[in-house]
Amino acid sequence: MPGSDPTAAAEPSGPTRPPQRRSSLPRTGLPKTASTAAPSAPAKPQPEASSSAPAAPAAPAPAAAPRTPTPAAPRTPAPAVPRTPTPAAPRTPTPTVPRTPTPARPAATAASSTAPRKLGPLTPAQWVGVAVILALAIVGLVTIVVLAVRWFLGLGFMRDFVHTYPGQYALPNGAPVGFPAWVGWQHFFNAFLIVLIIRTGLTVRRDKRPNAFWTSKRNPKHKISLTLWLHQGLDVLWLVNGTVFVVLLFSTGQWMRLVPTDWSVFPNALTAALKYASLNWPTDDGWVNYNSLQQLAYFVTVFIAAPLAAITGVRMSGVWPKEAKRLNAAYPVEWARAVHFPVMIYFVAFIIVHVALVFATGALRNLNHMYGGQDAVNWVGFWIFVLSLVVMAAGWVAARPLIVAPIARVFGKVTAR
Ligand code: HEM
Ligand code: HEM
Repeated sequence: MPGSDPTAAAEPSGPTRPPQRRSSLPRTGLPKTASTAAPSAPAKPQPEASSSAPAAPAAPAPAAAPRTPTPAAPRTPAPAVPRTPTPAAPRTPTPTVPRTPTPARPAATAASSTAPRKLGPLTPAQWVGVAVILALAIVGLVTIVVLAVRWFLGLGFMRDFVHTYPGQYALPNGAPVGFPAWVGWQHFFNAFLIVLIIRTGLTVRRDKRPNAFWTSKRNPKHKISLTLWLHQGLDVLWLVNGTVFVVLLFSTGQWMRLVPTDWSVFPNALTAALKYASLNWPTDDGWVNYNSLQQLAYFVTVFIAAPLAAITGVRMSGVWPKEAKRLNAAYPVEWARAVHFPVMIYFVAFIIVHVALVFATGALRNLNHMYGGQDAVNWVGFWIFVLSLVVMAAGWVAARPLIVAPIARVFGKVTAR
C-alpha cells in the first residue's frame, strides 16, 4: 500500500465530493422510508411521479374508487409502479397506501408541469429581467459616480490640488528608466507560481478528506495531504523567486520605481484614484514612472502582502517549531490561519484589477514593457505574453497527483488514504 498506487487513488481530482454530498436524497423529496428502500435509483421517481399525476386525475377519487386508481397510486414511490404505466396497474391497488388521500398534491404537480421551467428560484425570463435591471443599475451608478467626480475635480480648490499633485511625483535623480529582462522573467515566474499556489491553497481549504498523503522522510510523524505538499513546494520556489527579485531591485536601483520615496505619494495617489473614477485616466508612462496609486499597489503587494502570506504560511507549516511555547503563545496559529486566507483574497483582487488595467490602458505598450523589454507599440510583448499563458496553462494541467506524486516521492513517502 505505501508508495504503491496513490496516484491512481488520488487521480480523481474531486476528492472534495464526499459520497454524502453526491446523494440526491434531498432533491427527490422522497419520504425517508422510500429512499432507504430504493436508494439505487433515487433520481427517477420524481419526474415519473409528476408525469403520472395527470394520468390519474384523482380529484373525484372517493366516488370513482372502484374504477380509477386511487390517488394513492402516484404517492407510492416504489419505482415499479410508475415505471409500468400499463392499464393493469389500477387493477392492483396497493392496500397499504390509502393513508392520506389529500387531493392537494396531484393538483400541485399538475400545475407545476404546465408552469415554465425554473432555473433556481426564477424562470429564464425572470432571470433576464433581473440581469437587465442589474445592468441598468450598475450603468446608472457608474454614470453618477463619474459625473460627480468630474464635477468635484472641476471645483477651484480641486484644480489647485490636482495642479500640485498631478497623480505622480518625480523619481529620485538617477532612477533607472525602463525594464531590464530580469524584471520580466521574475514577474512571469511569480505569476506562474501564484496561480498554482492559489489553486492548491483553495483545494487545501475545501478538501476535508484528501485522497493522497505525503510523509516526510526525516520526520515520519509529519504527514500532510499531497496537495498541501504541492502548495508548500510551490511556496519555496515563490519565496526564492521573490528574494532574488528584491535583491536585484535593491542592487540595481529599480527599487525606486516600487518604493515610495516622497510623502506626496498619498495626495498623488488620491488624484490618480479620482482620475480613474472620472474615466479621464491618469497618463500612463510605466516605462519611466508609475502613477502613485500604482506604485502604492505594487509596493503593498511586494513588501506587505507577500511577506504576510509567507509569515502566516510558515506558522501553519511543519517547519515551524512546535515546542517553542513562548513564541507560540505570542504568535498563535489561529492568528496565522485568520490572516492567511484574507491575504489570498487580496492577491486575487489585485491580480484581477492589475491585469484589467494593463489591458485597458494601452495593452500592447504595457505588455511590451513587461514581456518585450521595450517601450514600443507592436505585437512582440503580446505574443511573448501569450506564450507565457501557454506555459501557465501547462503548469495548471500538470498540477495533478499523477505528475506530482512521483516528484513528491523524491522528498518523502506518498500514500493513498
Ligand atoms: C499574467 C497576468 C499579468 C500580466 C499580463 C501583468 C502585466 C504587467 C505589466 C504590463 C506590468 C508593467 C506595467 C506598466 O508598464 O505600466 C506589470 C507590473 C507589475 N506586475 Fe504584473 N501582470 C500580471 C500578473 C501579475 C501578478 C500575478 C502579480 C503579483 C501577484 C503582478 C505584480 C506586478 C508588479 C509588482 C509589477 C511592478 C513590477 C516592477 O516594476 O518591477 N503581476 N505587470
Ligand atoms: C511562503 C508562503 C506560504 C506558505 C509557507 C504557505 C503555507 C500554507 C499552509 C501550511 C497551509 C495549510 C493551513 C492549514 O493547515 O489549514 C496553507 C493554506 C492556504 N494557503 Fe498558503 N502558504 C504560503 C503562501 C500562500 C499564498 C501566496 C497564497 C495565496 C495567494 C496562499 C493561499 C492559501 C490558502 C487559500 C490556504 C487555505 C487556507 C484556509 O484553509 O483557510 N498561501 N498555506
